[in-house]
Amino acid sequence: MANIEGLQKLAHDAFEFLKEFDWVHSTQVTHILDGTLHKIPCEWLPVLTNMSTDELNNFPFLGESSAYLYPLWPTSLHRFLDLAARLNIERGQAELKPATVDFRMARGMNPKKLHEVSYIATLIHDIMAETGCDTVVDVGSGLGYLDHVLHQVFGHTVVGLETSESHVSGAESRAANQGLQCEGIKTLRFNLVNDVVCFQQFDELLSTIVSASTCQCKNAIKDDCTSFPLSSYCKKQCHRLMPWHILPQTLRLGAQETRSRWRMQSEEDHRNHIRHIAFRGLLELADCDDAAARRKLVRKCDFSSFKAFQDSYYSSSTFSASEISSGKSTLSYLYNEHKEDFSLIEIFTALQVVLQPVIECLIHHDRLLWLLEQGYSHSKVKIIPVFDEAVSPRNLATVAIK
Ligand SMILES: C[S@@+](CC[C@H](N)C(=O)[O-])C[C@H]1O[C@@H](n2cnc3c(N)ncnc32)[C@H](O)[C@@H]1O
Repeated sequence: MANIEGLQKLAHDAFEFLKEFDWVHSTQVTHILDGTLHKIPCEWLPVLTNMSTDELNNFPFLGESSAYLYPLWPTSLHRFLDLAARLNIERGQAELKPATVDFRMARGMNPKKLHEVSYIATLIHDIMAETGCDTVVDVGSGLGYLDHVLHQVFGHTVVGLETSESHVSGAESRAANQGLQCEGIKTLRFNLVNDVVCFQQFDELLSTIVSASTCQCKNAIKDDCTSFPLSSYCKKQCHRLMPWHILPQTLRLGAQETRSRWRMQSEEDHRNHIRHIAFRGLLELADCDDAAARRKLVRKCDFSSFKAFQDSYYSSSTFSASEISSGKSTLSYLYNEHKEDFSLIEIFTALQVVLQPVIECLIHHDRLLWLLEQGYSHSKVKIIPVFDEAVSPRNLATVAIK
């Protein structure tokens, strides 16, 4: 149950926190060598640079326990961890019995998708039973995995709305292969501008909204943040904090690396990650090519060492001999200038991982506030951890019943 004052306080505190620690989330990861790493407070460095892999992996989970587990750490670091933990939402999975999805229905789904579909199908079914809803409108229905389960397992009438033509035809042929050619299940081509427009377009029709976390974060980033913030409360907060404002890279961080994924990293994973970020950062500093072309080349690069990276990057036939020679010498120069900082990359990433759920939760709270402002009753608007965080880390769904 969402209490409006409580939500407003959480949103207010999240804005303040994000403003105070702006340096952690407002830089694009590829620009990290631009001086951002030196913004880590000096007093945090002796602690952070001496962490073992296990300690680093556990760092984003410390919260208020950091104060008694590590009493010698600086108070400012305890405060950072404590504040971030308070602005996170409890993510223990809700009690739901997953829908039984047999191997035919599961065809094409990876284990994560199967997990998500089987739990969210149950959540939707339970809400439909509670509210007496008879039709599901699945916005962004993709290949129709969820829709097919809702129809086959629970017998619901489902209309999928999907912007991608290939997904629409993929969903239709998948339904046909499953023997689902009937009035009870359809996928239509439809492009929804954003969440607000979606709501306005379907207000008369919809009695309940169920929105999964991933989509909310990604949607928030679209259209240069026009769908964040939605609520007038959060809009006022943004106005109050101007000229500071939330950047697209902050919202992108909210949709990225999560604590539960971070926790599973091996030492080698961390080393790999450092090389990826460092070498891409060097290219950004060298500023030698247009960004889109660079991103395409980088995808095929060998990140096993700086030499291998440099050679693989400049093996592309798009470079002339003189571009290769000057590009390599610029990169080598930058490598020598910045290599001492590489050890800070994983520490900085750990700080971003601490912040990720704060951003994700702020997006959820903004959505809840917006729904309340639209007249939804506060007893019927809630956030439900629908997936197991270990399988699908952004596991929160917003549910609003009229
Ligand atoms: C996470 S995927 C779909 C998952 C799907 N519900 C399932 O069960 O597999 C999100 C889908 O939303 C679609 N989409 C993105 N923006 C959209 C928009 N503005 N209008 C309609 N569909 C959109 C994408 O093409 C993509 O297929």
